[in-house]
Amino acid sequence: MCGIVGYIGHRKAYPIILEGLKRLEYRGYDSAGIALFDGKNLKISKTKGKVADLQKKLEAEITTTGNLGIGHTRWATHGIPNDVNSHPHCSNSGDLVIIHNGIIENYAALKKELTKRGYTFKSDTDTEVLINLIEDIKLKENIKLGKAVQIALNQVVGAYAIAVFDRNKPDEIVIARLGSPLAIGVGEDEFFIASDASPFIEYTKNAIYLEDEEMAIVRIKKGVKIRKIKDDTVVAPYVQELQMNLEQIEKGGYEHFMLKEIHEQPDAIRDTYRGRLLAKEGIIKMSGIDDNIEKFTNADKITIVACGTSWHAGLVAEYIFEDLARIPVEVEYASEFRYRNPVITNKDVVIAISQSGETADTLAAIKLAKQNGAFVFGVCNVVGSSIARETHAGAYTHAGPEIGVASTKAFTTQITVLTLIALKLAKVKGKISNSNYHYHLQELELIPEKVQKALQSDQHIQNVAKTYKDAKNCLYLGRGYNFPVALEGALKLKEISYIHAEGYPAAEMKHGPIALIDEQMPVFVIATNKGHYEKVVSNIEEIKSRAGKIIGIVTEGDANVKNLADHIIEVPETLESLTPLLTTIPLQLLSYHIAVMLNKNVDQPRNLAKSVTVE
Ligand code: F6R
Repeated sequence: MCGIVGYIGHRKAYPIILEGLKRLEYRGYDSAGIALFDGKNLKISKTKGKVADLQKKLEAEITTTGNLGIGHTRWATHGIPNDVNSHPHCSNSGDLVIIHNGIIENYAALKKELTKRGYTFKSDTDTEVLINLIEDIKLKENIKLGKAVQIALNQVVGAYAIAVFDRNKPDEIVIARLGSPLAIGVGEDEFFIASDASPFIEYTKNAIYLEDEEMAIVRIKKGVKIRKIKDDTVVAPYVQELQMNLEQIEKGGYEHFMLKEIHEQPDAIRDTYRGRLLAKEGIIKMSGIDDNIEKFTNADKITIVACGTSWHAGLVAEYIFEDLARIPVEVEYASEFRYRNPVITNKDVVIAISQSGETADTLAAIKLAKQNGAFVFGVCNVVGSSIARETHAGAYTHAGPEIGVASTKAFTTQITVLTLIALKLAKVKGKISNSNYHYHLQELELIPEKVQKALQSDQHIQNVAKTYKDAKNCLYLGRGYNFPVALEGALKLKEISYIHAEGYPAAEMKHGPIALIDEQMPVFVIATNKGHYEKVVSNIEEIKSRAGKIIGIVTEGDANVKNLADHIIEVPETLESLTPLLTTIPLQLLSYHIAVMLNKNVDQPRNLAKSVTVE
């Protein structure tokens, strides 16, 4: 996820772009850049770091202002965050300038082709490939920028929101979207372009939201012309009046970042497997794995190190790696692993999982594993983070920035990446039947839709939250793949509502926690219809006979648990190994609503930090 902003009109573009970037920083904050054009001089400035770093740099060097500008705040996907990889990017001639939010999946093939045609590239980005593709088409066919953009986008596979201008056409910006948001603010003889309306809300309340597969040519005096990218159909612009205030816009209309991030999960999971999961072809492509496949297939065991929610994702991975790929897995708290003289050799693979990529304990565990000769693979969200750099290879989760301190989309996207790896290894090692492998791929591809469906229970979950918000203690139970989800559910509740909660494997309840159960104790039980379903139902009976309150997270259409439970929350049916991606959704929403009802600071719970860089 990145933020893009543009301006063309009668005002100075610089302050509008800079302020706009600050407002879009929630969309990405590893680097930022700006291009300003006054009809003659083009000034491009970009830097690794935050928009404030860009501002410092610009204040020292700015010589050009101009009434046309575009800016970008980046959340890296291709190429580490550094000055060169930051946007805007120019074409080889220096005439065309672009900013881009998204991923061009077939950039490698396009780059190869362009290289053959004599193009050179300064950065490692997919975006620089796109702008040169546009230039190549424009020059070859001797056509206008808008047409060249359209032809180029028809050759591209992936997701994008782009804004492009040509130094030879200072009154025009061409924009397009597929899968990434893009809005046009319509003023008096001026236009604003942005990932959301926050950069232009004080200038105009009139906005056009571009739909997927649409492009627009935005021209001073001539207005906005929208076309379908595929078939060139003209679309009449629909100008709507914005009702939201600035803060609501930054949070996408949600009350909190956490809620926004919970609702982003269908897209985040899709972004995670985009370009990696080719379900129809039966292929999983992950360069970090493909390039090191023997390290994994020859490994004696895999050790997963992580903290908190990432550790829970590791526990889910343990089930799926062992179940499908038949590789022994140990999951360790990084903080324990680093101090306990673990038995790790050069025949081991260590997987480090971290949203931030900066967690001190995980970083120390990686260093220790490397000292012992292990091959260390990172699963991180933040591109170019310390853990991403410290590991031998890795796979990014591509969840986009997670601002709420409580991890939500990081968890489900980590599980998605780890599932892809497990399936890949299962296939390469011949441990999974063809039909099971294909079935998994197809089901994984359907998960975003099913998450979307699970999110639709929000209103019902709010009612359940109302019933249990005053509980002093809660238990979370699950078995098999859903035991880690029980742990994660309890952690989510603890950290944002400050209610004491414990997660347990359901069958362990009788070895102690059962003593806690009385009519005051809500017990959240994950009881989907696969795996140990009957056994979990027996556990539910045990709770019922001790008067505990039962909230069942069940598969759609379940009748047994419904008869026993005080409340049920349904999730769509899927393969057992993929159920954590669905069962975790209602538990996130429950914690969120309880915390809101208790008036807690949901996005910044007390005593916690988003990245824990101390031990
Ligand atoms: C819980 C949470 C923490 C993190 C943990 C590890 O919601 O956010 O438990 O999961 O601090 O952080 P990362 O994944 O950044 O290493």
